Amino acid sequence: MLPVPRLWDVVIAFVFFFGAVGDVAHAVEVDPAVLDGCPGYNATSVNVDGPRLSAKLVLAGTPCNVFGSDIKVLDLVVVYETNTRIHLKITDASNTRYEVPESVFPRPAADPNVLLDAAQIQFTYTSAPFSFNISRSRTGEVLFTTAHHPLIFEPQYLRLKTELPPAANIYGLGEHSDPFRLDATNTTRTMWSRDAYGIPPGTNLYGNHPVYFEHRPSGATHAVFLLSSSGMDVKIRGDGDGTTLEYNVIGGVLDFYFLAGSESDPAEVARQYAQIVGTPAEVPYWSFGLHQCRYGYVDYIDVADVISNYSAAGIPLETMWTDIDYMYKRRIFTMDPQYFPPARMREIIDYLHKHDQRYVLMTDPAIGYLPGQGYEPYDLGTQLDVWVKTPNGSASLGVVWPGVTVFPDWFHPKIGEHWTGEFKKFFNPETGFDIDGVWIDMNEPSSFCVYPCDDPQAQAIANGFPPNRTTPVPNPNSPIFNNANVELARRGAPSYAGDDLLNPPYAINNTAGVLSDLTVYTNSIHANGLVEYDTHNLYGTMMSTATHEAMLARRPGLRTLVITRSTFAGAGHNVGKWLGDNLSTWEHYRISIAGMLGMATVAQVPMIGSDICGFGDNTTVTLCARWAMLGAFYPFMRNHNIAGAISQEFYRWPLVTQAAKNALDIRYRLLDYFYTAFHKASLDGSPVINPLWFKYPTDTSTFGIDLQFFFGDSILVSPVTEENVTAVTIYLPKDRFYDFATLAPVEGMGADVTLTDVNFTTIPLYIRGGAVLPLRTTGAMTTTELRANDFEFVVAPGVNGTAAGALYVDDGVSIVQEQSTSLEMAFAEGKLRVTGSFAFEVGVKVASVVFLGVESPPTAVAVYPGKDNTPFSYDDANKVLRVQVDMPLTEGFEVAFH
Ligand SMILES: *[C@@H]1O[C@H](CO)[C@@H](O)[C@H](O)[C@H]1NC(C)=O
Ligand SMILES: *[C@@H]1O[C@H](CO)[C@@H](O)[C@H](O)[C@H]1NC(C)=O
Ligand SMILES: *[C@@H]1O[C@H](CO)[C@@H](O)[C@H](O)[C@H]1NC(C)=O
Ligand SMILES: *[C@@H]1O[C@H](CO)[C@@H](O)[C@H](O)[C@H]1NC(C)=O
Ligand SMILES: *[C@@H]1O[C@H](CO)[C@@H](O)[C@H](O)[C@H]1NC(C)=O
Ligand SMILES: *[C@@H]1O[C@H](CO)[C@@H](O)[C@H](O)[C@H]1NC(C)=O
Ligand SMILES: *[C@@H]1O[C@H](CO)[C@@H](O)[C@H](O)[C@H]1NC(C)=O
Ligand SMILES: *[C@@H]1O[C@H](CO)[C@@H](O)[C@H](O)[C@H]1NC(C)=O
Ligand SMILES: *[C@@H]1O[C@H](CO)[C@@H](O)[C@H](O)[C@H]1NC(C)=O
Repeated sequence: MLPVPRLWDVVIAFVFFFGAVGDVAHAVEVDPAVLDGCPGYNATSVNVDGPRLSAKLVLAGTPCNVFGSDIKVLDLVVVYETNTRIHLKITDASNTRYEVPESVFPRPAADPNVLLDAAQIQFTYTSAPFSFNISRSRTGEVLFTTAHHPLIFEPQYLRLKTELPPAANIYGLGEHSDPFRLDATNTTRTMWSRDAYGIPPGTNLYGNHPVYFEHRPSGATHAVFLLSSSGMDVKIRGDGDGTTLEYNVIGGVLDFYFLAGSESDPAEVARQYAQIVGTPAEVPYWSFGLHQCRYGYVDYIDVADVISNYSAAGIPLETMWTDIDYMYKRRIFTMDPQYFPPARMREIIDYLHKHDQRYVLMTDPAIGYLPGQGYEPYDLGTQLDVWVKTPNGSASLGVVWPGVTVFPDWFHPKIGEHWTGEFKKFFNPETGFDIDGVWIDMNEPSSFCVYPCDDPQAQAIANGFPPNRTTPVPNPNSPIFNNANVELARRGAPSYAGDDLLNPPYAINNTAGVLSDLTVYTNSIHANGLVEYDTHNLYGTMMSTATHEAMLARRPGLRTLVITRSTFAGAGHNVGKWLGDNLSTWEHYRISIAGMLGMATVAQVPMIGSDICGFGDNTTVTLCARWAMLGAFYPFMRNHNIAGAISQEFYRWPLVTQAAKNALDIRYRLLDYFYTAFHKASLDGSPVINPLWFKYPTDTSTFGIDLQFFFGDSILVSPVTEENVTAVTIYLPKDRFYDFATLAPVEGMGADVTLTDVNFTTIPLYIRGGAVLPLRTTGAMTTTELRANDFEFVVAPGVNGTAAGALYVDDGVSIVQEQSTSLEMAFAEGKLRVTGSFAFEVGVKVASVVFLGVESPPTAVAVYPGKDNTPFSYDDANKVLRVQVDMPLTEGFEVAFH
């Protein structure tokens, strides 16, 4: 969603800090020598108890008081939680400071039987001044060291700095639109949720995931996660001598998890991170179908037209979406009676459901501040007293689409009752609008009210919120609650005495300006006494969880599809995300891959995708054609567009229609392969999207690649990346591949290859040798239809002649599966073996098995149980052997040739 155009410039003061105590100038850059001149701490009272070490850290010398007074005594606790995880926490010894609440981020359990001898990483320290190292046990390699940079711990400024190898390979610290491998010479990653129209690189965006993976050329990967929702700048600086990574945090505590990862399998570190943040939620099978959305479908007729135009064009549309256009005066939980008459909307939804298609509506957090106007979501929430509050106890006001708004307080004990209640009413499957999934936006939370937001009413009027449509139509909701004065409980001030919650002495590089600009004021207070200053970065994830629960309550037992804009670490456990308001540019087409990798591979938010063909600005035919094909390999595939731009549904141009059809056909054939990967991810956090270095961890040429990726484990996607060209230079690691289109073997030489004549309806795809792919047969207009298609297993042996794969099938929608089918496919020496459990009635068969890279026609092919002599065909040009097996998916079988 588009924020109000900014007609002003925020000037961020850029000052060098010279050490004057009490100076509250906004420092974005501080002379490193000043910080390194701080005294640090001495470790005393060190106590070791099995896997747990504790100590007091005592300020070691004259306070430096760079951004406040140095805290004199700290508590250090280090715990070896598992063989691969060390948890290190530094807190104020005499004051309770803010920590991310367990209710929002449950902490992982420690293994009670952890053996120090088996620990893959180790913590060592020096007492005076205190510093620590994390190193890899087997090799002694230092992964993190604070040896040369003193710890600084002040009320509103925490600093910890590590040294890393020169040109370190660092990934993560999202959300950002920078390259997947961060520039190790000069990157500042600011964590502060922001409505970031146009997703500019080098700025803070919608979500915050303070975790990075670091990969070393030996093939080893480890991770560092700072569990903090406080605003921060993570500064990476480097030259030929080395790289440094510095945390500059404006609150909370230092709560680190160090993960050993693995010396040879990068995916292991992703799985270890999932042990902390939770494995991703399984989503409904249908949610991998194509989604169509736009801001600016002005009425129900537009919506209906798009649905029928997709159908007429023969492009499989799974899910239709509607943006805020449907709301009456932009108020959530209302339907505009004139433009989106409820009866018509129900007809549309019924039609979609009868055709095995789905419907999604958008919901924002901000609720119109409409006292005495009979707007139930506001009145009821006011009665329950569930709004975020100003320090004086009144509701904190902002300006969003409906004009002046209040903001739900997700910490309030009754907010679930309110939110779930509204969902149950408005989205009631029988009496309301029976949506299949929900889209939540503006939950940074975004406000259009420019700081200082002293008069939101004036700002709402001046900027035209809500916009006038035509003659206002009376609100069909009659007022059912009177507006009796509700006593607003005054929140006890938390122990932030002395803290400046609006303008802290260290100013993070928030592109929006001061912390409270264009969002809820940071001195706002939540029901549990926490302040927005500390919890701002949790808002989107907390709304996500509340929305996930509201959707579960509507349709108990069914998986939910909730797509959010703002996320915090752990969001993927409940919801998916899209990468915000990008633009219809080639740059944004390219950067979408890095964005996807950052979320799917590092942050454990695998249900991810960018707006296909671009949200803002006008797309072009060729950009949209290429993007339709790239987007077919995003986990979440949605075309979305801004109001006022040219239409960009795939059927608008013949070229794009063809490109979309081609790519969707491939995506749908691969859907069970991908669904199987997603199921595995939900069990153990294995990535569903892989950067090349995850598969080739010692091939240094792969470390910086973010224009190619693996969809699942085995489909190498290498899109054309430039405008007006039909060629692309790609990297093929030294390995066996197969062209997905012809199935012919392709030898990767560990070198660049230039592909030419890649026309605008083709995307280059390769199968990585070593895979058995469970493809569906071609042709389906919905995923329901697709599930009635037979399978075709494709056996693509690796360099050593073997291949393996998996297939997981269930009903696609239930959270608890009574029965599922889970197969393993293994190929070696001319024989494919399919084994597993077959409890789910798949209802279709494996029609054929296709063996790739078969050098010569076999003399005989046999299928067991069944026929000794099975007919086959052999394609000599492409070395493909095709066997018609017709095996029902009710028991194991084998296919052998010689
Ligand atoms: C910290 O340790 C150093 C080195 O042993 C010592 O000089 C200094 O006095 C200690 N500081 C405090 C506050 O104990
Ligand atoms: C930490 O590592 C550095 C090298 O990076 C080394 O100089 C220092 O001695 C190590 N300290 C400890 C306590 O292991
Ligand atoms: C580092 O990046 C910042 C922000 O882009 C820029 O202002 C600065 O000049 C860069 N510094 C160097 C040494 O390149
Ligand atoms: C909307 O209409 C009202 C009444 O006609 C008018 O006062 C107001 O200025 C209009 N607002 C906008 C944004 O055009
Ligand atoms: C701070 O953010 C601005 C954009 O708002 C960016 O231009 C600048 O480079 C950033 N500074 C650093 C040090 O990254
Ligand atoms: C997009 O195209 C429309 C229609 O041609 C035009 O009105 C609009 O100004 C264009 N938008 C941009 C950002 O160029
Ligand atoms: C691509 O072709 C179009 C139409 O000829 C042209 O306007 C555009 O500038 C070209 N883009 C590039 C990057 O060459
Ligand atoms: C585009 O290329 C593909 C693959 O080479 C080919 O099958 C298809 O016919 C081409 N399309 C057009 C319109 O030339
Ligand atoms: C062949 O290679 C695969 C993938 O690297 C490996 O998992 C498998 O164990 C190898 N098999 C043999 C027989 O070497």
